Amino acid sequence: MVCNEWSPSSGRTMTQRILLIVSGGIAAYKSLELVRLLKAKDMAVRAVMTESAKEFVTPMSLGVLTEDHVYGDMFDLKEEREIGHIQLSREADLIVIAPATANILAKMAGGIADDLATTILLATDKPVLACPAMNVRMWHHKATQRNILKLKEDGIHILEPGVGAMACNEWGKGRLPEPAEILAEIERVLVEAQTTDEHPLLTDTTRTINAPDLSEHNLFGHHVLVTAGPTHEPIDPVRYIANRSSGKQGFAIAAAAARAGAKVTLVAGPVMLPTPAGVTRIDVETAREMLAVVETTLPVDIAILVAAVADWRAADEAVQKIKKDGHAPAPLRLEENPDILATLARHGQRPGLLIGFAAETEAVLDHAAAKRARKGADWIVANDVSGDVMGGATNEVHLVTAAGIEDWPEMTKSAVAARLIERIADALAGR
Ligand code: C5P
Repeated sequence: MVCNEWSPSSGRTMTQRILLIVSGGIAAYKSLELVRLLKAKDMAVRAVMTESAKEFVTPMSLGVLTEDHVYGDMFDLKEEREIGHIQLSREADLIVIAPATANILAKMAGGIADDLATTILLATDKPVLACPAMNVRMWHHKATQRNILKLKEDGIHILEPGVGAMACNEWGKGRLPEPAEILAEIERVLVEAQTTDEHPLLTDTTRTINAPDLSEHNLFGHHVLVTAGPTHEPIDPVRYIANRSSGKQGFAIAAAAARAGAKVTLVAGPVMLPTPAGVTRIDVETAREMLAVVETTLPVDIAILVAAVADWRAADEAVQKIKKDGHAPAPLRLEENPDILATLARHGQRPGLLIGFAAETEAVLDHAAAKRARKGADWIVANDVSGDVMGGATNEVHLVTAAGIEDWPEMTKSAVAARLIERIADALAGR
């Protein structure tokens, strides 16, 4: 079977698409378990095998688990006509090579494209994660180390191999990490990719501009609470009130806080984003649920409330679906939701640093300053959402504090996150 659709597993919504390249090493068998874990996370997986990989696992096993055709032949006219190598390389959200042999790494470092897998890797505009696995001496060989360094410089993500006993009875570094570790790294790279819009192999500019080195800006020992995404307020069992928040900025902030060493609790409204590495995530649907969960996380040192919480909910949620009955519909009566930011500001366990976001479409700074005073926040991050910020990869914000207003240039959401975490660490350190 060759088809253009990524195979949906039992009709569930797939959030991310992974193109898994399996190259030929003894660890190839672990790719089967990796596919199973990815599918359990509702990710769609499409597999490509090198010729030598087929000596270790069969296309049939991978095909059954991915519920898709397994690709392998560069010169298969049918495959190429129905879904070419360029399409394969561009349709995924992330390309993962597991295991990545010394051979495929060397080809990648040299830009060689002599089979389907390496051609995809040269043609892609998507992030690439390579998970090397090989004999310890091959790993420590100067050529392999030179290639790894080159690939890192090129922006390829490398998951370091583990140390242990090898299939060849030697001991050392070169083992493919366990599938659960690879999954965690995939989730981390996906979050990073979602908050940057540039392909690392083509240009690195917006990815690195303004992104501070977090090593000096440590939040170790601090508990950070982040809210993110929209809330859904039910009208009846099938309809709800919502907004356009994607959750990307809040997730990027949670990821940056975790990278800075903080303990991070992320309370997320309904969004299709993977959980950043090192973050404890609690999913909620409504504003009232979000407030209840937020209160259970207290005390926290820092709260960053990025969620676009619905201001109102339906006053009378219908138990059954509201039917069209030929008459004008009954007016939708609304009542106000609790304000989580204002509630925390007055709370007996008020976070030491309380930060709100203000998404405005006009008079951005005036409204943000007024919001800071009215809600009792320490800082407000104000942004103009009259353009396509919601769902987009970049943001242009202003930081409103008691000391005044800082205008930050437009940057990626991950760069905004990194800079905010840097400012928080500076404030805690009295800088
Ligand atoms: O009033 P507005 O919705 O513009 O305020 C935005 C800020 O207040 C954000 O930090 C948001 O997370 C927070 N907020 C809240 N609870 C609400 C409404 C907004 O915590 N019900």
